[in-house]
Amino acid sequence: MLTLLKLLKDGRFHSGQALGAALGISRSAVWKQLQHLEADLGLSVHKVRGKGYQLAKPLLLLDVAQICANGLCEWPVHVFDSIDSTNAEALRSIERGVQAPFLVLAERQIAGRGRRGRKWVSPFADNLYHSLVLRIDGGMRQIEGLSLVVGLAVMHALRDMGIAEAALKWPNDVLVGEKKIAGILLELVGDPADVCHVVLGVGINVNMRSTDEVDQQWTSMSLESGRDFDRNELVARLGAKLQQYLALHHEAGFAAIQSEWERFHLWQGRAVSLIAGVNRIDGVVMGIDHQGALRLKVDGVEKTFSGGELSLRLRDDS
Ligand code: BTN
Repeated sequence: MLTLLKLLKDGRFHSGQALGAALGISRSAVWKQLQHLEADLGLSVHKVRGKGYQLAKPLLLLDVAQICANGLCEWPVHVFDSIDSTNAEALRSIERGVQAPFLVLAERQIAGRGRRGRKWVSPFADNLYHSLVLRIDGGMRQIEGLSLVVGLAVMHALRDMGIAEAALKWPNDVLVGEKKIAGILLELVGDPADVCHVVLGVGINVNMRSTDEVDQQWTSMSLESGRDFDRNELVARLGAKLQQYLALHHEAGFAAIQSEWERFHLWQGRAVSLIAGVNRIDGVVMGIDHQGALRLKVDGVEKTFSGGELSLRLRDDS
């Protein structure tokens, strides 16, 4: 089915006969595969008598050669047409002994994972589903604030590509105004105090313009700018920013990044509720500390909070 899609991706008309000949199947088998393409991948195909078949919109698929041509050639890149989750595949690869660093990308995820057990909506060829695997052997210091560092790199990559309003929300969401444009999920295997592997999972809404599956306010690069983006260029730009900020973090620790991160924090000084499961703590955001923990003023007293299960909401009265 995906071989057929690759023949159609140019957005031109292709006759059923030519497609069948290229694939070594009958015209009716082509027809059946096209119906699957529409049903499974949510793509729309025009069928015109005498002309053949045409994708409603040309597709720019992920392509390792194009990613390298855009400047990111250092990391081995594994691209999947369809996978459960790029983070899950990255963890399986670590288990199999694949040497880090490496990057796992997919055109779609059928079980994309978000923070706090949520699902990450991952339609075909629209967005970026990106998991970078690193080996960490510098102890806890190399992990401290790492997810915030990734958020900063994602935000700068988006700004470089023209999404000038992209900004941060603790711990690691990237927002435009109140709408989420990117999310980050770090997963760790091994002993963080000694040698471990970390999977830096990044999901960016790129060319997605509609979905009723996302249960929070969201936006995408194309909704913000009115044009579509080449995800191969985005992968390369994000790679460059990750290299820059991960190197700074490696050499100088999170303290070297703290004040820059705070400058881009949308909710600095705002009244918020910190949600931890069924518990809620109201306070005012003071910033973050040297490890990336949130500093909140609660009833006049400064307190720090950290942990993957926490999330922030703006308070109605803020
Ligand atoms: C969040 O909830 O904000 C985090 C979302 C992280 C989604 C990305 S998409 C690539 C990688 N693979 C996954 O299954 N999840 C992350």
